[in-house]
Amino acid sequence: MGYPHPSHPKETPVLSKHFGDPEARTFDGWVKHGGYEALRKAVGMTREAIIEEVKASGLRGRGGAGFPTGLKWSFMPKEAVKPHYLVCNADESEPGTFKDREIMRWTPHALIEGCAIGAYAIGAERCYIYIRGEFTEPWRVMSNAVDEAVARGALGANVFGSGKRVEMILHRGAGAYICGEETAMMNSIEGKRGNPRIKPPFPAVAGLFGMPTTINNVETLAAVPHILNRGAEWYKGLCLGNPKSTGTKLVSVCGHVQRPGNYEVVMGTPVREILYDMCGGPLPGRTFKAVIPGGSSVPIMTIEEAEAALFDYEGIVAQGSMLGSAGMIVMDDTTDMVYQIWRLAKFYAHESCAQCTQCREGTAWTTRIFERILSGKGKQEDFQLLLELSENMTGKTICVLSDSCAAPVVSGIQKFRSEFEAYIAGAREPAMAAV
Ligand SMILES: Cc1cc2nc3c(=O)[nH]c(=O)nc-3n(C[C@H](O)[C@H](O)[C@H](O)COP(=O)(O)O)c2cc1C
Repeated sequence: MGYPHPSHPKETPVLSKHFGDPEARTFDGWVKHGGYEALRKAVGMTREAIIEEVKASGLRGRGGAGFPTGLKWSFMPKEAVKPHYLVCNADESEPGTFKDREIMRWTPHALIEGCAIGAYAIGAERCYIYIRGEFTEPWRVMSNAVDEAVARGALGANVFGSGKRVEMILHRGAGAYICGEETAMMNSIEGKRGNPRIKPPFPAVAGLFGMPTTINNVETLAAVPHILNRGAEWYKGLCLGNPKSTGTKLVSVCGHVQRPGNYEVVMGTPVREILYDMCGGPLPGRTFKAVIPGGSSVPIMTIEEAEAALFDYEGIVAQGSMLGSAGMIVMDDTTDMVYQIWRLAKFYAHESCAQCTQCREGTAWTTRIFERILSGKGKQEDFQLLLELSENMTGKTICVLSDSCAAPVVSGIQKFRSEFEAYIAGAREPAMAAV
């Protein structure tokens, strides 16, 4: 999980250094590890100076899109004429992704500190942390930590005696994947149905309760105290050659590897190193077949593509996929790709909020066509039908949930077509009863 990277042994791990250490969960324990120094420093700085430091570090959003964090903060109005809000996205419902919950379970004060710095930097006096409903332990740990931080003066009307106010509200979700999408999340906090909103207006103009708002992922915000403590130059140096992807990244690896789990890597680490050195390679007697590198919402990579890739934003794109949330789903030669893609399509159909026709109908029909193929009733025309449906689900809707369903479908047909052909030709036993 958190072990030194060979190229930066003295500086890594960063985010996961104290995972597993119960002392780090407490306010005093966190302070012992240098915690809250960055917040004390931040409240003595100007907002602009904090934003410039985060910009210079090259930190990019860890929630999926990889948008530069400092730049996002700079979009907030300079004058706080209206209330501003920071929303921390702790929904983490992306299949294969399980890193944010570990930050909250083990280093809750790292997140609270990052949120408080972020809130101050964007001129917000209130931060909402939206925690996925199923996260019972992270919720409890975070609740205790917020109470402690208030009692010890790190949060409240007068942060560490600076006269700056930062309040923190934990908001519990009710278990909907779509509420991880930032505008759906704002509706959910407002007590409405979690449907995404049309943009523009962008959240920095009219977000939560119609006020200027910034939304950031847990891992993004937890990185901020380290940047203020150790400097943008240090953070920028944590990469293996590509200056557009800096810092460390938590990778959640699941599926057919010997040692699944969370690993913290320096940006640019070869995927091979993650798969073989960290995760121990395939299970005995098996070989790797495919990898979905960024949660389930990105194109599937063949094992050859994955093994040739560097693990950073550009490195994964160069091999035909996206870094996304960095939840790596690894599949070996025992995997039925058609069945697995059907399973993903079913997930998206279930989680579609149903506002947009292309998504509501597209995810449902995609699922049914896969069921037809898997039950031995598929036709050659189904390839074209699936590809046309996917095209209509890409770039045509309010949010990208339907694009996320289309990505594994299109890449699956392109790269594993023979497995579909086997079902259609009757060369493979049906995997399910006729529907
Ligand atoms: C359907 C959907 C689900 C999402 N789920 C999450 C999530 O669980 N956690 C998250 O941080 N971002 C999620 N996102 C991305 C957010 O909308 C947003 O881009 C992100 O929280 C911004 O934070 P960042 O800039 O720090 O990455 C999701 C997006 C979509 C379209």
